[in-house]
Amino acid sequence: MLLKDRIALVTGAAQGIGEHIAREFSAEGATVILTDIDAERLERTAAAIRAGGHDVLAKALDVRDRSSVKTAIPELLSRLGRIDILVNNAGAYPRRHFREMSDEEWDRIVDLNLTGVYNCTRAVVPSMSERHEGVIINISSVTYLVGLANLSHYISAKGGVVGFTRALARDLGPDGIRVNCISPGAVATESEAEIYRPGEVEARILPLQSLQRRILPRDIATVAVFLASNMSSGMTGQTVNVDGGWAMY
Ligand SMILES: NC(=O)c1ccc[n+]([C@@H]2O[C@H](COP(=O)([O-])OP(=O)(O)OC[C@H]3O[C@@H](n4cnc5c(N)ncnc54)[C@H](O)[C@@H]3O)[C@@H](O)[C@H]2O)c1
Repeated sequence: MLLKDRIALVTGAAQGIGEHIAREFSAEGATVILTDIDAERLERTAAAIRAGGHDVLAKALDVRDRSSVKTAIPELLSRLGRIDILVNNAGAYPRRHFREMSDEEWDRIVDLNLTGVYNCTRAVVPSMSERHEGVIINISSVTYLVGLANLSHYISAKGGVVGFTRALARDLGPDGIRVNCISPGAVATESEAEIYRPGEVEARILPLQSLQRRILPRDIATVAVFLASNMSSGMTGQTVNVDGGWAMY
């Protein structure tokens, strides 16, 4: 039980990587607050985790909506007493060539993938600093390291997440708060089907990886457990690739 008695908040937890982080954290003894913009799916996911005997809460939350975040997180803090671990996972990666991208699309994707991370972090940090304890895990993307066409908005934001992780680790280290980041590779999630044709990922991505198998959401979640737990108590400001050995930095 690596996270026994810890309280964790995971954004974008209704499905995909966030759902699996919530599942692994629960299995390791944490009380998990699942949050997502999709309230209906969020309730279904939370109910499924609860059915497995775990103590989870569900809270509909749009990470882009700063005033909602500013209300919801203090409410959760006063209800539960503390949030030990924040996982900034909510994100989206719609493909669009730079020439065809509207200003609105740029703003929306940067707002979600970068400013959303800021909004949630801003809301939990004062209480973590007060207690002189806390863990923040940000989810970036290997695309920041390798570059990929049709994702200039997303990759810019995910690069910002790596920079934010480093800068924040410096600011918050003296407060006993650790800030780390995971950069997943091509992970087999439900959303993938909306982007790739069947078989396309295997054909395009596997030749780039060292491991010749798909990376699964659980592969990201187990590294998140490590970063959330005292097993990594000497680590902060780091970005860990979980990509089957695609990028090697
Ligand atoms: N799947 C991959 O291959 C991959 C690779 C690298 C990085 N990532 C990153 O991992 C994270 C999770 O990706 P995923 O593949 O599980 O995606 P996903 O689409 O399966 O899940 C993302 C979740 O975020 C939620 N969400 C979207 N907008 C939101 C908002 N404004 N506020 C709160 N929740 C919101 C969605 O409803 C969804 O439940 C993202 O940050 C993504 O960029 C994914």
